[in-house]
Amino acid sequence: MNFIVAVDKNWGIGENGELLFRLRGDMRYFKMLTEGKAVIMGINTLRSLPGSKPLKNRKNIVLSSRYYVKDESVTCIKSLSELSKELKKYDPEDVFVIGGAKVYDLLLPYCEYGFVTKINSSKPADRFLKNLDTLENWKNISAGESIEENGINYSFNIYKNEKVKTFDENILEK
Ligand SMILES: NC(=O)c1ccc[n+]([C@@H]2O[C@H](COP(=O)([O-])OP(=O)(O)OC[C@H]3O[C@@H](n4cnc5c(N)ncnc54)[C@H](OP(=O)(O)O)[C@@H]3O)[C@@H](O)[C@H]2O)c1
Repeated sequence: MNFIVAVDKNWGIGENGELLFRLRGDMRYFKMLTEGKAVIMGINTLRSLPGSKPLKNRKNIVLSSRYYVKDESVTCIKSLSELSKELKKYDPEDVFVIGGAKVYDLLLPYCEYGFVTKINSSKPADRFLKNLDTLENWKNISAGESIEENGINYSFNIYKNEKVKTFDENILEK
């Protein structure tokens, strides 16, 4: 599976349950990569979506040990062993981890590619992604050109995990 994220200069990803930046070009890119696929998110990320509604045209896999989301496009998952069973239904290339911080931390070791929008600005943040540039196993294999939108510069980058772990039922429970 893969992940997709937008980070600021400090690898910040969110503040007060919201995204730091809303960039139309980045939203389009996110939609293009994830449409028709399965997306895995934590319950806080689901709540951060417009109207707390799941993403259209995607299979939404929502992690929570405490809450159940009643929606036909949502599969609720309570534990990593449940997630492991659910993921057997999909081609790993068709699964994207879409956040937030807790879920990235948990699932990054099992992701092969990371689609990272790097925003060349910073804002106060209370949620962060690990700085992939400091991690030995993650390599930036494609750094996109700088794009400007309303005075904000950003680029689309692809990282590859050179030591992907296998995701199976033996992984530790939360
Ligand atoms: N910049 C970006 O690209 C991006 C993308 C996504 C989100 N975000 C931002 O990130 C922030 C949200 O991140 P977050 O870290 O607060 O929350 P999160 O990762 O979206 O959700 C965390 C919740 O997921 C559930 N969970 C995690 N591991 C689990 C497991 N093993 N089994 C069952 N449930 C599990 C838990 O819910 P329970 O406590 O109910 O068990 C946990 O509290 C928001 O600010 C959002 O805007 C940014």
